[in-house]
Amino acid sequence: MERLPGFRDFYPEPLPHSDLWSAEARRHIFDRWRETSRRYGFREYDGPPLEPLELYTLKSGEEIVGQLYNFVDKGGRPVSLRPEMTPTLARMIAAHERSYKKPVKWFAIPQLFRYERQQQGRLREHFQFNADLIGESGPAADAELAALLIDSLRAFGLTAEDFTVRLSSRNAWQDFFRQRCSNPEHESPFYQAIDKLERESPEESRAKLADAGLSLDEVNRFIAEGKPTAELEAIVKNLRARGLGDFVRIDYHVIRGLAYYTGVVFEAFDKKGDFRAIAGGGRYDNLINLISAGKVDLPALGFGMGDVVLLELLKARGLLPPFDSQIDAYCLIEEETLREASLNLVQSLREKGYAVEYPLTPAKSDKQFKRARELKARYTVKLDASAPGGPKLKLKNLSTREEKTLPVDEELHLDIA
Ligand code: HAM
Repeated sequence: MERLPGFRDFYPEPLPHSDLWSAEARRHIFDRWRETSRRYGFREYDGPPLEPLELYTLKSGEEIVGQLYNFVDKGGRPVSLRPEMTPTLARMIAAHERSYKKPVKWFAIPQLFRYERQQQGRLREHFQFNADLIGESGPAADAELAALLIDSLRAFGLTAEDFTVRLSSRNAWQDFFRQRCSNPEHESPFYQAIDKLERESPEESRAKLADAGLSLDEVNRFIAEGKPTAELEAIVKNLRARGLGDFVRIDYHVIRGLAYYTGVVFEAFDKKGDFRAIAGGGRYDNLINLISAGKVDLPALGFGMGDVVLLELLKARGLLPPFDSQIDAYCLIEEETLREASLNLVQSLREKGYAVEYPLTPAKSDKQFKRARELKARYTVKLDASAPGGPKLKLKNLSTREEKTLPVDEELHLDIA
């Protein structure tokens, strides 16, 4: 039975094949995301993987809505697997915002589902680190979030040589558009054309821009000039003060495909340009209002960082640690009459917190020893009933080969570096 295209199995290391996905690499990534969030004071939340379809049709933007895994459930409700976390977060905040002091700083690591064409860096399921800051409208919040994004990539050993955060502003594009075109119907298609500028041919872009009476030349000139808005200047200044200035640059190519963004937007890319976006986000000051049907009005911003591109990048830069598993001790059971006493020993060691293995079924001594080696045990431990002066406990350090004989009733502590 094959798994569905675009979905992944995660295997423990060592992987049988280099094309397979590693459960340990995934944990490594999640651990770094959680640890960086903790340092920045972000608290973890989660929501359901299945949501009412309407949550996404309301304001997510056409691209993502076209990629929904949606169906009608047995109760006749139109539902969808979550393609992104932001609408769920907006719903959760709207429901209980009064119970939380502002600004709210929350993070989550949801698995998301998008029925999109499979390509490098894009699957039909991925895990996405989401960090969002709610209830603060000034650029200090944007800078704090950008710093978290930068530091969550630095936590993997990536440097300013490896990635850059391209900062932009929908406000700047909005001003650009409104100064030149008075028909609001063209505004959203205009943003979409800007979003696709780097992926489409100049002819395609030219045709799309012409609909709104705009030329590709003036768009390109605006991007090349890259004059920062006041809020973008404040963000860059704030990041410079932290020593993180080298990680960002103003780049108006970025406008973001999702429909709910309202102000500053940004995306993180590898500097060599080998991969798709590592992360993307921005301000969405109207989404909570929209999802709560006007009941709650809070400014918000956040970003999402997927595990797929990040893992490709870490592999390419040789930044994944080795995932060797090691156990603390292997308990040899060389005589079956000692099995019950050995189980008792295994249990007491495990209760002390040591990782301990033993043969589940009778096996020859040399096989047991081989297994201890395969499991990279630091020690072997065994009961020896025939020792002179009564039963003894034998402990062997497998790297130094040093052996110790101890009384069976002695509290056993393993010296683990
Ligand atoms: P997004 O740009 O759609 O933003 O996704 C953010 C990141 O998730 C991308 O940069 C990429 O790393 C990863 N990603 C997206 N789709 C896929 C896919 N099909 N396969 C693998 N990785 C993928 C959002 O989702 C926003 N909701 C982020 C946000 C949070 N904005 C504010 N708060």
